[in-house]
Amino acid sequence: MNYQHAFHAGGVSDVFKHWILVLLLEKLSQKPTPFGVLDTHAGAGFYDLSTERSQKTQEYQEGIARLIHLKEVPPAFASYLALIKQCQGLPDKLQHYPGSPYIIKHYLREHDSLIACDSHPETYRWLQRNLDAKYDKRVALHEQDAYLAMKAFLPLKEKRGLVLIDPPFEKEREFQQISEALKTALHRFQQGTYAIWYPIKHRPPVRAFHEVLQSFVPHQFLIVELLRRNDNDAKTLNGCGMVIINPPWELQETLASTLPWLVKYFAIDDNARTELRLTRRD
Ligand SMILES: C[S@@+](CC[C@H](N)C(=O)[O-])C[C@H]1O[C@@H](n2cnc3c(N)ncnc32)[C@H](O)[C@@H]1O
Repeated sequence: MNYQHAFHAGGVSDVFKHWILVLLLEKLSQKPTPFGVLDTHAGAGFYDLSTERSQKTQEYQEGIARLIHLKEVPPAFASYLALIKQCQGLPDKLQHYPGSPYIIKHYLREHDSLIACDSHPETYRWLQRNLDAKYDKRVALHEQDAYLAMKAFLPLKEKRGLVLIDPPFEKEREFQQISEALKTALHRFQQGTYAIWYPIKHRPPVRAFHEVLQSFVPHQFLIVELLRRNDNDAKTLNGCGMVIINPPWELQETLASTLPWLVKYFAIDDNARTELRLTRRD
C-alpha cells in the first residue's frame, strides 16, 4: 500500500469531496448539541503544493487553481472557498491545501469531537504533525485500519455526527470492503450520516456498489456525482461521486443549486455532467 495523497491534493476529487464535507459540517453545526466525526482514511491533513510529490502531478492545477481566484461564487460554495483561501500564507498565491481532518477540526466547537485514522505509518506521522492536536481534547488520532476503526469507534459518543469514508481505491475489493463495514456500522450507529467518496472510471462497478447498498441500507441515501467526460473507460479516472447515507435536510437542494456551476470548471469535453438522486431501499 503506497498511496500518498500529496500527489492528488487540491485536485478535482478533493474540491468536490471537501466542498460537500464543508456543507455537511455546516449542517451539523447548525444545532447546538455536540457532534462527532470519524474520518476513517484521514491522510496527512495538510499539504504543501510546492513539494516534489504535488509538483510531479500538479493535479491541483486542474482543481482548486481554477477556482481560488474567483471573486464571485454561488453562496453554497463560499465557505469552502473562504477556508481554502484562509490556508494560504500569501494572499493571491496558492501554496497550501487542507485535508479532510484539518477541515473537520476547523469546524469543531468546544464539545464536538474528531477521530481521525490512517493506517500508513509515514502518513500517520504527518497527520500528527499537521493537525497539531496533541493537547486538543476534541481530537483523537489513530494509526489504525479504517474498517477496524468503524467497529471500534461507532457509535460516536455524541450519538450524532458524520462518518467520512475516503479510501484510496488501490485494491479491487474496496467497494466490497466498504459495504461489509457499513453493514456493521449501520447496526451500531443507525442515525449517523455516512459520506463515502468513490472514483468513477466505468459504470459497472459503481452501479454494482449502489445496488448492494440498496439491498441493505435501511435509510434513504443520496448519490452525487461529477463526471468530467463519459464514464466508459475502465483505465482512466473520468469523475467521482459520493454516497451520503442519512443526508441532512435540504442538502440535495443545496447541491443541485451549485453542481451545474461547478462542473463547467472541470469539464474535459461536452459529455461532462453531474448526477444527483435520492434513493431508498426497494
Ligand atoms: C484518499 S486518501 C485520504 C484523503 C483525505 N481523506 C482527505 O480528504 O484529505 C486515502 C488515505 O487512506 C489511507 N489508507 C489506505 N488504506 C487504509 C486503511 N485500510 N485504513 C486506514 N487508512 C488507509 C492512505 O494512507 C491515505 O492516506
